[in-house]
Amino acid sequence: MKALISRGVGRDLAVEDVHLPATGAGEVRVRIRAAGVCHSDLSMTNGTVVPPYPLVLGHEAAGVVTEVGDGVEWVAVGQHVVLNWSPACRQCWYCRRGESWLCESAGAAAVPRGTTADGTPLHATLGLGALAQEVVVPEHAVIAVPDEVPFEQAALLGCAVMTGAGAVANTAGVAAGDSVLVIGLGGVGLSAVMAARRAGADPVIAVDVSPAKRELALAAGATDFLVSDDTLSKAVRALTDGRGADHAIECVGRAATIRAAWRATRRGGHVTVVGMGAKDDLLSLSALDIFSSARSLRASVYGSADPDREVPELARAVLDGSLNLRPLVSHRITLDEAPEAFARMSRGEGARSVVVF
Ligand code: APR
Ligand code: ZN
Repeated sequence: MKALISRGVGRDLAVEDVHLPATGAGEVRVRIRAAGVCHSDLSMTNGTVVPPYPLVLGHEAAGVVTEVGDGVEWVAVGQHVVLNWSPACRQCWYCRRGESWLCESAGAAAVPRGTTADGTPLHATLGLGALAQEVVVPEHAVIAVPDEVPFEQAALLGCAVMTGAGAVANTAGVAAGDSVLVIGLGGVGLSAVMAARRAGADPVIAVDVSPAKRELALAAGATDFLVSDDTLSKAVRALTDGRGADHAIECVGRAATIRAAWRATRRGGHVTVVGMGAKDDLLSLSALDIFSSARSLRASVYGSADPDREVPELARAVLDGSLNLRPLVSHRITLDEAPEAFARMSRGEGARSVVVF
């Protein structure tokens, strides 16, 4: 089968022949039908984070179960599924507290799985390696969804939508009438905009460096769009009775945008960091400002969600029409075209590129 491989930081991506292991006990084989390109995939190829290589990219996908290993009861052959890059063990300290997104056994950037055509061991991004025709994964790394959900939208439920929607609802706890600022309008940020609107937030101020994101922002339900520059906090204050936003959701992953989010929230406001940044990108805040502004700063991993419960809820919202994910899919592409999607993403163009198989 074919998969998109990164061989190291800055090296060209290539579609290569890959051998997957046989489906073992407790594992399932999934034929991938759609897979999105997420910024975290880009971050694993450009040095923002440095996982082991060669690496099969991709962690946002949906497909059909084609084989189940011994003892699998979670799903059956023929079931449509969304891949879950942080399956919960349900036994560790975090899972038992109900914080399954922090599960001790999940979350490695890459795990060994399969080989290249010449027998070199491969690693799978976030345990999935989903920019591929097939995956073999632990049974709990899939979530059953109704057959009626289009695969390209189901795929996005597995990362961008769960992450953005969960950050707004679970981590930030946005309520009707709150003012919400979303910085960075890729698949994750646009999902956060949609979730803020669904929660009844007003205004929902969407911000990006790229002026070309205006139409996408408004289609996702933003009430206002701003191009980010040095005047951002002033512009946000002008839209929030001079105070600043109740919530800022940072969906870029840079110290500069976390700081911009901080400055644009009101006294006692909340900054939720969704972006995954680099370890040497340091954030500086004054100790006095932290105290006197009484703001909070929290990170949101996988939307502080339990995807086993919340992905099916989001799937139902797609089917009943209350969650319209169509504006998120800006490019439908083949696997061979995926390297161009990475280049597009590094230029900040479009919403999501989705490989359709
Ligand atoms: N200010 C505002 N917007 C910015 C800035 C900036 N300084 N720098 C980049 N952006 C915008 C880009 O123009 C782009 O529209 O942020 C957006 C990022 O979108 P994508 O690259 O599509 O990223 P996405 O997949 O949505 O992920 C966002 O969440 O899960 C994390 O690792 C992921 O850090 C990434 C973030
Ligand atoms: Zn992702």
